[in-house]
Amino acid sequence: MNIVVLTGAGISAESGIKTFRDENGLWEGHRVEEVATPEAFASNSKLVYDFYNLRRAQLLDPKLKPNDGHLALARLEAAFPGSFTLVTQNVDNLHERAGCKNVLHMHGELQKIRCLQSGECYQWTEELNEKTPHPKGLNSPLRPDIVWFGEIPKHLDQIEQDLLKADLFICAGTSGVVYPAAGFVQLTPRGCKKIEFNLEETPISRLFDETVLGETGKTLPDFVDSLIP
Ligand code: APR
Repeated sequence: MNIVVLTGAGISAESGIKTFRDENGLWEGHRVEEVATPEAFASNSKLVYDFYNLRRAQLLDPKLKPNDGHLALARLEAAFPGSFTLVTQNVDNLHERAGCKNVLHMHGELQKIRCLQSGECYQWTEELNEKTPHPKGLNSPLRPDIVWFGEIPKHLDQIEQDLLKADLFICAGTSGVVYPAAGFVQLTPRGCKKIEFNLEETPISRLFDETVLGETGKTLPDFVDSLIP
């Protein structure tokens, strides 16, 4: 049996990381085009560096911890005898910190930076700006290794292969409006059980067998308990 899990910002909300789509449509006071596009980086790199520096620094805050939703998925991965793939749209490291081993960060990671010349990525926990010395001494700009709007998500081939043979697809804490992730449920084969976990119904809820309403910090542990007593 194969399980594929897709997570979004909602699963980290109870840990204190803000989701993207609040009532004003603003993300920490910014429109996404101002901070999460290649055009924004080209026209105002300082704003984009600073925006991600704050998010990266938040990951080092000793108060930030994985919550019961992250821990439940790690427990499922550890106990499940079949294949288990966790695909996340999140750029934080809370799934790893909860103990998940097989995490595909389709939208990149805050704790990685990328060389614009070579495309090589480096682990990075500090501030990044235009003056940051290149880890390999090259004379090339560095950028957050984040997939911005208009860019192609990572690991799509592997994600598609896993979805095509999924027996259980779990979608937790995502608004279902950003593609291609919002379309993953439609790649699962006939007979695959599809369950969504969210605070509310989403535009893709009708594509699932069931939508479990509530905070993932509560609903996911209950669900995992029912799978692995
Ligand atoms: N438990 C369950 N669901 C929750 C919780 C919670 N505690 N808190 C919030 N949610 C739900 C919201 O109802 C919403 O549907 O999580 C979803 C969060 O949606 P978004 O903020 O749109 O986040 P996400 O779906 O991850 O965004 C996708 O868009 O901005 C880009 O690249 C960015 O990866 C991101 C992508």
